[in-house]
Amino acid sequence: GANPARALAPRVPFGAAVQVDHFEADADYRALIERECDLLMPSNELKFGLLRPTRPEFWFDPADRMVNWARSRGMMSRGHAFVWWSTNPPWLEAIRDPADAERVLVEHIERVAEHYRGRLGSWDVVNEVIANDPREPGGPLRDTWWRRRLGARHISLAFRTAMRADPSAKLVINDYDLEFEGPRYDARRAEILHLVRQLQDEGLRVDMVGLQAHLYSHIKVDREALARFGRDLKALGVGLLASELDVIDFQVRGDADAIDAAAERSVSDFLDGLFAGQRPYAVITWGISDRYTWVPDAMPRSDGQPNRPLPFDAALRPKPWYVTLRQKL
Ligand code: XIL
Repeated sequence: GANPARALAPRVPFGAAVQVDHFEADADYRALIERECDLLMPSNELKFGLLRPTRPEFWFDPADRMVNWARSRGMMSRGHAFVWWSTNPPWLEAIRDPADAERVLVEHIERVAEHYRGRLGSWDVVNEVIANDPREPGGPLRDTWWRRRLGARHISLAFRTAMRADPSAKLVINDYDLEFEGPRYDARRAEILHLVRQLQDEGLRVDMVGLQAHLYSHIKVDREALARFGRDLKALGVGLLASELDVIDFQVRGDADAIDAAAERSVSDFLDGLFAGQRPYAVITWGISDRYTWVPDAMPRSDGQPNRPLPFDAALRPKPWYVTLRQKL
């Protein structure tokens, strides 16, 4: 590996998910990634709609370029995601026949998992399958196109197919809002545990739960609940990782220093709770620098200041939570 920071031997790998176009166009950004990351993964390019613009096509090229670059430098990588409610291409959602939907799901996972066999250490098999508020009617699973066509069994089907297609890849349930204090978050954690047990009862293997960890500066991280969740998963033989860490700051008033201080508190609390439960497989940020982030598109600040969700600022300078992260990993 060409990463001198690795000489410090971090106990838990640090990684980033980034877009291939940003990575390829921006040499300074690429150099930062090479210096800092033990793991690099495509954030969008393995999503169904980007990979499969039409039914016969598989656009492996962009993700391949990043995965191969990472491998050639001794970095790990991972796959995101086989099943998600978002970014399904129109041709997919036009399918009405459940048998056809099942064929597409199985074929998709087989082809993609086999293509990356031995190159991706883990896969988000399902992403965001728990309802936003699982206590509401219609829950606990999210109402998605896959569920409407195939029912809850699409989750088992996805795990069974992935297990067969790449037996060496770790299989992950990835989801959001699992980090905070309050009854909705308690319910979401409980539903993840329930889903893990259900899949295990069917003889399926769940290797890890991915905590997206899109933190919010204004929502309190529940360290105790997070630690308990990590221990409960461990008792089931299931690991965990932070899969999409960033800090959403649209509710914080003040200047850049105030925003960064609030973000540092959130990340510090989160890592304390995470590590108290069990040692994570990796901590992965969603992006790495404020130069490229999804947050301004989804949750912009109303005061006109730029969002500051990531460990490096837009000029690629480390922010306070980068130091915290490095101390705790
Ligand atoms: C986001 C990407 O960062 C954006 O570029 C894209 O337009 C939408 O998706 N949870 C997830 C990720 O699992 O796939 C999402 O990524 C962010 C929220």
